Amino acid sequence: MELIIFITLLLFLFSFFVLFRGKIYPNRLPPGSLGLPVIGQSLDLLKALKADKVENWFQERISKHGPIWKANLFGYPTVVLHGPTANKFIYTCDGNILTNTQPPSISRILGLKNIIELSGHDHKRVRAALTSFLKLEVLKQYVAKVDEEIQHHLQTHWFGKHEVQVQPLIKTLTFNIICSLLFGIERGPIRDKLLPLFQHMIEGVLAIPINLPFTQFNRGIIARKKLVPMLIDLIREKREALQEQKQQANPHKDLISSLISIHDDDGSPTMSDEEIIDNIIVVMVAGYDTTSVLLTFLVRLLANNKSIYSAIVHEQEEIAKSKAIGEALTWEDLNKMKYSWRVASEMLRIHPPVILSFRRAMQDIEYGGFIIPKGWQVLLSQSMTHMNNDIFQDPTVFDPTRFEKHAPQPPPFSFVAFGAGPRMCPGIELAKMETLAMMHRLVTQFTWELIKKDEYFKRNPMPEFDQGLLVQITPIEATFM
Ligand code: HEM
Repeated sequence: MELIIFITLLLFLFSFFVLFRGKIYPNRLPPGSLGLPVIGQSLDLLKALKADKVENWFQERISKHGPIWKANLFGYPTVVLHGPTANKFIYTCDGNILTNTQPPSISRILGLKNIIELSGHDHKRVRAALTSFLKLEVLKQYVAKVDEEIQHHLQTHWFGKHEVQVQPLIKTLTFNIICSLLFGIERGPIRDKLLPLFQHMIEGVLAIPINLPFTQFNRGIIARKKLVPMLIDLIREKREALQEQKQQANPHKDLISSLISIHDDDGSPTMSDEEIIDNIIVVMVAGYDTTSVLLTFLVRLLANNKSIYSAIVHEQEEIAKSKAIGEALTWEDLNKMKYSWRVASEMLRIHPPVILSFRRAMQDIEYGGFIIPKGWQVLLSQSMTHMNNDIFQDPTVFDPTRFEKHAPQPPPFSFVAFGAGPRMCPGIELAKMETLAMMHRLVTQFTWELIKKDEYFKRNPMPEFDQGLLVQITPIEATFM
């Protein structure tokens, strides 16, 4: 209890310190109100997120104050920014000016050495190590493996069922793909133990950071404590396997083997074991919910939009026709799925899984005629540009032709579903691979209908369907009987 009082006091003191910093520039701060200390407008924003009305929430404030305004969010005085120029500023700003530091509660679960926490040289070094495995040239070899996980998933969780909850099932699928491809953990008891631990950690990251028995945050911390020794064992086993196999060893067998194998010019390991642990955790957390959200929205779209559904089926059946029954998908097959990826891109425009990015000012910053004082938080609602009529005409209309090769290109930094700049998502190619392979297997093996046509979703902050997007499914053979 004393600890909680102490932390709360510290938070108040810190909050007053950063607020005081703001008082040095009384006439240069952006318009808007900081509201009540600590709480500020956080509950209001959370309410808007839950109702998926966050855009309206921002829009109301933009109409009142303009594109730069201040608020008090999640314990910090915050400057909120919008628009392509703001996106460019945030995504390309030097880490010594704006840092990516997460609240201590998040780094307690994800670890202090995870890529999101790092800046400057350390960020570059860890990012280069991650992308040495996540780049297309390496991932291309794993299309059949991703496809095999998908086929096994459909056999286990979809065939023989009349109804399924799409969102939780697809989360299980993306978890299994990451386990197989990135961690090199095959199906079996270890994977089964890992899934609930990761789920608790993700819930902990998104929870109110109160560390009391039975809180979500506490479950996340306990899950990390249980997970770390398992990952230490896994790293040791992989290191031993690599040493035994020496020349024949394939360092790109999986992400962990790849990270263990990378050395600097002087022969020392590029990443410490602590860094490897924190970064495989963050890769799972970053890759698990995002792609599953995209696929869930796609399943909903294909049930509602017959013309897009028919065009996707046509494209996927052409690919299926060129293959023997049971033959695995290849990179060349995925590369032919141009229309399907345009539909997925338009879905990412309309329902981007990540809609907010937080940064922290490391020094007083002059931006747009205002001062962002040192220590203040900066919130970017990056995807507001996706719904800007001047950038994407009739933005609420779902129109995959926007992503055709010869369509007019939106200005730089306005389509930012995967972010941009040096922190742009390194998982794009994997996300694309999973999405296209799953769309292929789904539309060639099943038809489906929504059980609740208007099943709503809230943002938590990831979109979460009320009943997991409940659909009635029919295997394709059965429809032709
Ligand atoms: C549809 C799927 C995905 C979407 C929409 C998405 C979106 C994003 C966005 C917007 C960012 C930048 C956030 C910021 O700058 O504040 C990001 C970063 C990141 N993503 Fe993804 N992501 C997806 C899939 C994945 C996957 C599959 C992985 C892992 C294999 C992954 C790993 C990461 C990592 C490690 C970062 C941090 C990069 C850094 O700080 O340098 N993401 N993602």
